[in-house]
Amino acid sequence: MLQKSVKQYLEYLKLSGIQDIFFRPPKVKKIKKKPPPQIFDPAQKLKELEEKYRNCKKCPLWEGRNKFCYGNGNPQTKLMLIGEGPGVDEDRAGKVFVGKAGQLLTKMLHAIKLTRDEVYIANIVKCRPPENRNPLPEEKKMCLPYLEEQISIIKPQILLLLGRVAAATLLEMDIPLKAFREQTYSYKGIKTYVSYHPAALLRNIGWKKFAWIDLQKVQKDYQSL
Ligand code: URA
Repeated sequence: MLQKSVKQYLEYLKLSGIQDIFFRPPKVKKIKKKPPPQIFDPAQKLKELEEKYRNCKKCPLWEGRNKFCYGNGNPQTKLMLIGEGPGVDEDRAGKVFVGKAGQLLTKMLHAIKLTRDEVYIANIVKCRPPENRNPLPEEKKMCLPYLEEQISIIKPQILLLLGRVAAATLLEMDIPLKAFREQTYSYKGIKTYVSYHPAALLRNIGWKKFAWIDLQKVQKDYQSL
């Protein structure tokens, strides 16, 4: 029916002297392809961030720095360990806990059936304080957002804070390490343990038995996850 009237109309146009007709092609609706869902890769994200921050100059520690020590290990871990700051070996290597204290830490992890590749380790400050002194409040303040960001990417279920500096900084309490060890904490909803820093254990062998008690608690919790 419609075809017939179109034909008649075209004949009429022809008779009126119109020879050519231009048709605008109908608009074809483009179907937008959805981009493939982005799979969040914490390892890739941390790599990007380490690259972004490695020339950080937010506090004076950069002046004595050889290498920025961001953190190492498995970003998909359930257990994250936090120390104080890089020492001379770490500063040279750009990796955390690689010196004598680090070697002891590796053994401590083995004692609870874990390897360094199964956990993630970072520090309160990413650059070496001179003469291995404790990081200053301003240095910690400037550096803390890096650690907070790492924790929010890794989303560990357990935190183990090594030493009083890590504990006092993250838990915002000024008490002796012995007192810190007496309980567990919730840091941003993450179950948090405090134990001795391995460097302190190297100086005070007698404390190793207490560290072993702490480690066993962490192991029990880790294995129950
Ligand atoms: N001590 C720390 O607290 N962190 C390291 O990376 C090395 C030693």
